[in-house]
Amino acid sequence: MSALAQGKVNLHLGVGDVRPDGYHDLVTVFQAVDLTERVTVTPVAPAPAGGASAAPDASVVEEVTVSGPDAHLVPRDASNLAVRAVDLLVRHWLTHGGVADVPRVAVHIDKGVPVAGGMAGGSADAAAALVATRELLRLVTPPADRDRAPDLDGEVLRTLGAELGADVPFCLLGGTALGTGRGEQLIPLMSRGTAHWALAFDSTGLSTAEVFARLDRLRADAATGVRPDVRAGDPHDLERALLTGDPAALAPTLVNDLQPAAVSMMPGLRRTLLAADEAGALAALVSGSGPTVAMLCRDHAHAVEVATTTAAAGHVGSTTVTASSPHGARLDRGGGWTAPGRVVPPQP
Ligand code: C5P
Repeated sequence: MSALAQGKVNLHLGVGDVRPDGYHDLVTVFQAVDLTERVTVTPVAPAPAGGASAAPDASVVEEVTVSGPDAHLVPRDASNLAVRAVDLLVRHWLTHGGVADVPRVAVHIDKGVPVAGGMAGGSADAAAALVATRELLRLVTPPADRDRAPDLDGEVLRTLGAELGADVPFCLLGGTALGTGRGEQLIPLMSRGTAHWALAFDSTGLSTAEVFARLDRLRADAATGVRPDVRAGDPHDLERALLTGDPAALAPTLVNDLQPAAVSMMPGLRRTLLAADEAGALAALVSGSGPTVAMLCRDHAHAVEVATTTAAAGHVGSTTVTASSPHGARLDRGGGWTAPGRVVPPQP
């Protein structure tokens, strides 16, 4: 059972104050892009004696393998979000009356989204794993039991997804959407046309939790007059620009409150943002918590030009091009995944 899910950029990321649960209230506009994660869940051994329900807390995942760019950076243990997603859905299913013959499984992840790059690569793995595991559970349920099998509809997947990470519900939904709460409460947004992006990846990642914590510290400094405290307003202009399908109208509406925090943790991002500007991008901003820099372009050819010029400037790990995607997480019917091409700058 294979399923696909897309990475994302945030067109607008407004961050409120930290909440008692450690999360921040967000007003964000997510856009899925055509960088794809594929998660394959394969039965490798029969259910243990007594069925999986005999040990409901034990993982059903026997092994984890990863391929694609950045594969070596992905944890293979119980902290892997795809593994957590498989086990969370299996546990939900067992505690809601699903039949107990859940086989032990191998999980394989083909990575197309950078690791710790601010593009929801791990969340996309969780979303794809939920969709693949739902199909597995449907298939292991004998036809005679299907009527009383627990309903694993989109709402159940979204609720479980939100437990795994704030971006997982968006990775299930895809397209372009307004996110509030922690980012998990979603309203799909209308948009016209396709947005074309050049992306600059760094060779190291940033921890999302640390970038949010840095923003809190910068804001505490701002309160003492040390630094400016600029917060993104409402994304009304952005929502209107999305309806025009005109990238030149979209460009001035892009904003990310996390950008100053990401830049202060990785000062080299300033040079990448400058290089994007010099390469002629319509706009450039840090994607989510970074360090990926997303550069909005007029069309595909312009994106190739900006990606190539930015890579040649030499401050980035690699660059690639992508476009907005209408897709959420879905079963892979074959032929849906290709490794993205990347431009790697010449080594000094
Ligand atoms: O939900 P996820 O595990 O992706 O979030 C990673 C971390 O990012 C959280 O533990 C939290 O520190 C931070 N975060 C936040 N507010 C959000 C989303 C994430 O503070 N809305």
